[in-house]
Amino acid sequence: MPSLTVNERPVEIRMDPATPLLWALRDGANLTGTKYGCGTGECGACMVLVDGEARPSCTIPLSQAEGSTVTTIEGLSRDRSHPVQQALVAEQAIQCGFCTPGIAIAAAALLARNADPSEDEIRTSLTNLCRCGVYPRLVRAVQRAGRVLRGVETISAAPPPTVPLRDAARAVPALTPPKKP
Ligand code: FES
Ligand code: FES
Repeated sequence: MPSLTVNERPVEIRMDPATPLLWALRDGANLTGTKYGCGTGECGACMVLVDGEARPSCTIPLSQAEGSTVTTIEGLSRDRSHPVQQALVAEQAIQCGFCTPGIAIAAAALLARNADPSEDEIRTSLTNLCRCGVYPRLVRAVQRAGRVLRGVETISAAPPPTVPLRDAARAVPALTPPKKP
């Protein structure tokens, strides 16, 4: 039974090891923030952090994820406080929002490597597809998130999620904070 750590919580997934990680997260762990777009590794809608690296979860069989540490959009922060999330909202870089979880994950991975990326680096690193065309705002949002991470700017908090975190954690096992020893 493949076991991995999802959003800081050990999880055993009772699914065929050939199942793409995307479906294990969505159907097995009820983490539906990770989206299905192309299913072929092209669009980035399904991106999650695997051992800190942004990867398309639709192309990773569960067997390959065994033992990995996975962070989904739900685990990037539990209250939308990650600078990327705050900046995407502040720059209005979200239209329908379908691509947004994957973009936030890819942007967080980029900024973890380099908190001051150039526009070219952002465009090269964030290959996620957005049918609504938020690309210009996306560049501004990533640069703004970088300024927040570097401590040269702050963003006033985005509105809180409409579902209370306690209720969300109850419905989604992989969101439950790990028990303190
Ligand atoms: Fe995985 Fe498109 S659904 S990259
Ligand atoms: Fe609609 Fe990107 S905001 S697909």
